[in-house]
Amino acid sequence: MSLKSLVRRSLWLTCLYYVIDDRRAARRLARGQLETRSGRRHDALALDQSLGYIDRVYDDYCRYGGVTRFEGRVVEIGPGDNFGVALRLLAGGAREIHAVDRYIPKRDAAAQQRIYEALASRPGFAALFDGPPGEQTIRGLRYHQGTPAETFFHDTPEHYDAIVSRAVLEHLYDPLAALDDMVRALKPGGLMIHRIDLRDHGMFAERHKLTFLTIPSWLYRMMTRASGRPNRVLMPAYRDWLKRSGLDGSLRISRLVGLADEIEPVSLEALDPAMKARAHDAVRAIRPILAAPFRPLDDDSLAASGIVLVARKPDH
Ligand SMILES: C[S@@+](CC[C@H](N)C(=O)[O-])C[C@H]1O[C@@H](n2cnc3c(N)ncnc32)[C@H](O)[C@@H]1O
Repeated sequence: MSLKSLVRRSLWLTCLYYVIDDRRAARRLARGQLETRSGRRHDALALDQSLGYIDRVYDDYCRYGGVTRFEGRVVEIGPGDNFGVALRLLAGGAREIHAVDRYIPKRDAAAQQRIYEALASRPGFAALFDGPPGEQTIRGLRYHQGTPAETFFHDTPEHYDAIVSRAVLEHLYDPLAALDDMVRALKPGGLMIHRIDLRDHGMFAERHKLTFLTIPSWLYRMMTRASGRPNRVLMPAYRDWLKRSGLDGSLRISRLVGLADEIEPVSLEALDPAMKARAHDAVRAIRPILAAPFRPLDDDSLAASGIVLVARKPDH
């Protein structure tokens, strides 16, 4: 048996592996090495799949936000390895995109080049580049690489028309404080759209999907604080944040524990009862061994494994 499969078979050896890996990540960060494999979305995709993904993310932002386009100054948090969504935002009417990323997701230069060339061939897109198509030549893009969202929004003196993210807030070390700072950084009438993946990101791939919620907090912190692994801030924390923020907004469910496919985001009340029952069964199977912070949560709160948070700052 290989060392890897031996480690995988033991929950505690798996945790130890993540503690060691997190220490390594901390040392890399301290040395200023920001490269990461997280966010390498396009490496494994063929060109048409990459373009499809970019279009889907952009269309989702428009649909979730109830808008047909974005204007003014937009922040995209954690864009990953490609700025295709930024290009769609610019082509739709945004003036400036601020791409904020704590790390530098590794890129496959040739695959990236093909994506930018394909996007540049779309009507109106060539003018978005200041020279040959590529991430260095996108007009109106400012890449804040190596800047955590938490720091960016805390420090920025600017105000933004929109802030968007997908599969990012679960990696922030303090997403709720960052949301408070985002509200301050939004212009009156500004819009925030965050799609948040509450799953374990493959940490305990062959076990129950909520195994990561059984790890005691002190140990989980040691496994995750530098590496950006999921922060275990779950749906109720975002729901309570939205309530106390005083913003107009919604929180919808886009995934349920125990169900393989994502769903069109709906409110908790509008969830299909059969799906909800299956998710509750999955939650109950692991409830007896949950770590202390998760034991008081009801089945609905633990069943939501993906959410979409949308909020608009009042106009006055
Ligand atoms: C799973 S990837 C998602 C990439 C892209 N949004 C997508 O949907 O394909 C997470 C991204 O968030 C970035 N990230 C992680 N922690 C962050 C933080 N604290 N502040 C800003 N970006 C962060 C990662 O470097 C990566 O680019």
